[in-house]
Amino acid sequence: MKRALSVLAGLAAALPLAAAAQTPNGRDLAAACAICHGTEGRAQPNMAVLAGVQKEQLAKLLVEFRDGRRPGTIMPKLAKGYTDAQIDAVSAFFAAQKK
Ligand code: HEC
Repeated sequence: MKRALSVLAGLAAALPLAAAAQTPNGRDLAAACAICHGTEGRAQPNMAVLAGVQKEQLAKLLVEFRDGRRPGTIMPKLAKGYTDAQIDAVSAFFAAQKK
Protein backbone atom coordinates (compact mmCIF):
# COMPACT_ATOMS: atom_id res chain seq x y z
CA MET A 1 0.00 0.00 0.00
CA LYS A 2 2.77 2.37 0.92
CA ARG A 3 4.43 1.56 -2.37
CA ALA A 4 1.25 2.23 -4.36
CA LEU A 5 0.88 5.58 -2.64
CA SER A 6 4.39 6.63 -3.48
CA VAL A 7 3.84 5.63 -7.11
CA LEU A 8 0.70 7.77 -7.13
CA ALA A 9 2.58 10.66 -5.58
CA GLY A 10 5.23 10.31 -8.25
CA LEU A 11 2.61 10.39 -11.00
CA ALA A 12 0.95 13.45 -9.52
CA ALA A 13 4.29 15.23 -9.43
CA ALA A 14 4.98 14.35 -13.05
CA LEU A 15 1.61 15.55 -14.39
CA PRO A 16 2.19 19.32 -14.30
CA LEU A 17 5.43 18.78 -16.23
CA ALA A 18 3.63 16.81 -18.92
CA ALA A 19 1.02 19.56 -19.21
CA ALA A 20 3.70 22.24 -19.52
CA ALA A 21 5.39 20.32 -22.33
CA GLN A 22 2.17 20.50 -24.34
CA THR A 23 1.72 24.26 -24.02
CA PRO A 24 3.50 25.79 -27.01
CA ASN A 25 6.52 27.85 -26.02
CA GLY A 26 6.68 31.09 -27.99
CA ARG A 27 10.42 31.49 -27.63
CA ASP A 28 11.10 27.97 -28.92
CA LEU A 29 8.74 28.50 -31.85
CA ALA A 30 10.32 31.86 -32.67
CA ALA A 31 13.73 30.23 -33.14
CA ALA A 32 12.38 28.82 -36.43
CA CYS A 33 11.64 32.37 -37.65
CA ALA A 34 14.98 33.91 -36.69
CA ILE A 35 16.87 32.79 -39.79
CA CYS A 36 14.69 35.10 -41.91
CA HIS A 37 13.14 37.60 -39.51
CA GLY A 38 16.16 38.06 -37.26
CA THR A 39 16.85 37.15 -33.67
CA GLU A 40 13.78 38.00 -31.58
CA GLY A 41 12.14 39.45 -34.69
CA ARG A 42 14.62 42.31 -35.19
CA ALA A 43 15.06 41.83 -38.92
CA GLN A 44 17.67 42.95 -41.43
CA PRO A 45 16.61 45.69 -43.89
CA ASN A 46 14.05 44.45 -46.47
CA MET A 47 12.64 41.78 -44.15
CA ALA A 48 9.49 42.17 -42.10
CA VAL A 49 10.21 43.19 -38.52
CA LEU A 50 8.13 41.12 -36.10
CA ALA A 51 9.48 42.54 -32.83
CA GLY A 52 7.01 44.77 -31.05
CA VAL A 53 4.18 44.21 -33.54
CA GLN A 54 0.83 43.77 -31.79
CA LYS A 55 0.05 40.15 -31.00
CA GLU A 56 -3.40 40.32 -32.63
CA GLN A 57 -1.90 41.73 -35.84
CA LEU A 58 0.78 39.02 -36.06
CA ALA A 59 -1.71 36.24 -35.35
CA LYS A 60 -4.09 37.64 -37.98
CA LEU A 61 -1.34 37.71 -40.64
CA LEU A 62 -0.23 34.18 -39.80
CA VAL A 63 -3.77 32.77 -39.87
CA GLU A 64 -4.39 34.50 -43.22
CA PHE A 65 -1.18 33.01 -44.65
CA ARG A 66 -2.14 29.59 -43.32
CA ASP A 67 -5.69 29.69 -44.64
CA GLY A 68 -4.66 30.92 -48.09
CA ARG A 69 -6.21 34.36 -47.70
CA ARG A 70 -2.88 36.24 -47.86
CA PRO A 71 -0.47 35.76 -50.75
CA GLY A 72 3.21 35.16 -50.17
CA THR A 73 6.21 33.15 -51.29
CA ILE A 74 7.26 31.33 -48.13
CA MET A 75 4.83 32.16 -45.38
CA PRO A 76 1.72 30.45 -46.80
CA LYS A 77 3.58 27.13 -46.83
CA LEU A 78 5.29 27.67 -43.53
CA ALA A 79 2.19 28.83 -41.66
CA LYS A 80 0.36 25.62 -42.57
CA GLY A 81 2.53 23.80 -40.04
CA TYR A 82 1.22 25.78 -37.07
CA THR A 83 -1.80 25.24 -34.83
CA ASP A 84 -3.86 28.14 -33.48
CA ALA A 85 -2.19 27.68 -30.09
CA GLN A 86 1.28 27.84 -31.64
CA ILE A 87 0.39 30.94 -33.66
CA ASP A 88 -0.90 32.50 -30.46
CA ALA A 89 2.28 31.67 -28.54
CA VAL A 90 4.74 32.82 -31.21
CA SER A 91 2.75 36.03 -31.79
CA ALA A 92 2.78 36.80 -28.09
CA PHE A 93 6.54 36.24 -27.99
CA PHE A 94 7.30 38.64 -30.85
CA ALA A 95 4.85 41.25 -29.57
CA ALA A 96 6.75 41.30 -26.28
CA GLN A 97 10.17 41.93 -27.93
CA LYS A 98 11.68 45.43 -28.20
CA LYS A 99 11.84 46.82 -31.72
C1 HEC B 1 12.66 31.13 -44.96
C2 HEC B 1 12.42 32.49 -44.49
C3 HEC B 1 11.27 32.73 -43.51
C4 HEC B 1 11.02 32.08 -42.33
C5 HEC B 1 11.77 30.91 -41.71
C6 HEC B 1 9.90 32.77 -41.73
N1 HEC B 1 9.47 33.79 -42.52
FE1 HEC B 1 7.92 35.07 -42.16
N2 HEC B 1 8.20 35.96 -43.94
C7 HEC B 1 9.14 35.57 -44.89
C8 HEC B 1 8.88 36.27 -46.14
C9 HEC B 1 9.67 36.13 -47.42
C10 HEC B 1 7.76 37.11 -45.90
C11 HEC B 1 7.00 37.98 -46.92
C12 HEC B 1 5.75 37.21 -47.36
C13 HEC B 1 6.06 36.01 -48.23
O1 HEC B 1 6.62 36.17 -49.32
O2 HEC B 1 5.76 34.84 -47.84
C14 HEC B 1 7.38 36.90 -44.51
C15 HEC B 1 6.33 37.57 -43.88
C16 HEC B 1 5.92 37.35 -42.59
C17 HEC B 1 4.88 38.06 -41.91
C18 HEC B 1 4.06 39.21 -42.47
C19 HEC B 1 4.75 40.50 -42.11
C20 HEC B 1 4.04 41.69 -42.67
O3 HEC B 1 4.12 42.74 -42.03
O4 HEC B 1 3.44 41.58 -43.74
C21 HEC B 1 4.75 37.54 -40.68
C22 HEC B 1 3.78 37.96 -39.58
C23 HEC B 1 5.73 36.48 -40.56
N3 HEC B 1 6.44 36.39 -41.75
C24 HEC B 1 5.91 35.70 -39.45
C25 HEC B 1 6.79 34.64 -39.37
C26 HEC B 1 6.87 33.75 -38.23
C27 HEC B 1 6.06 33.89 -36.95
C28 HEC B 1 7.83 32.82 -38.54
C29 HEC B 1 8.26 31.63 -37.70
C30 HEC B 1 7.21 30.74 -37.28
C31 HEC B 1 8.34 33.14 -39.85
N4 HEC B 1 7.68 34.23 -40.33
C32 HEC B 1 9.34 32.43 -40.51
C33 HEC B 1 10.15 34.66 -44.71
C34 HEC B 1 10.26 33.79 -43.64
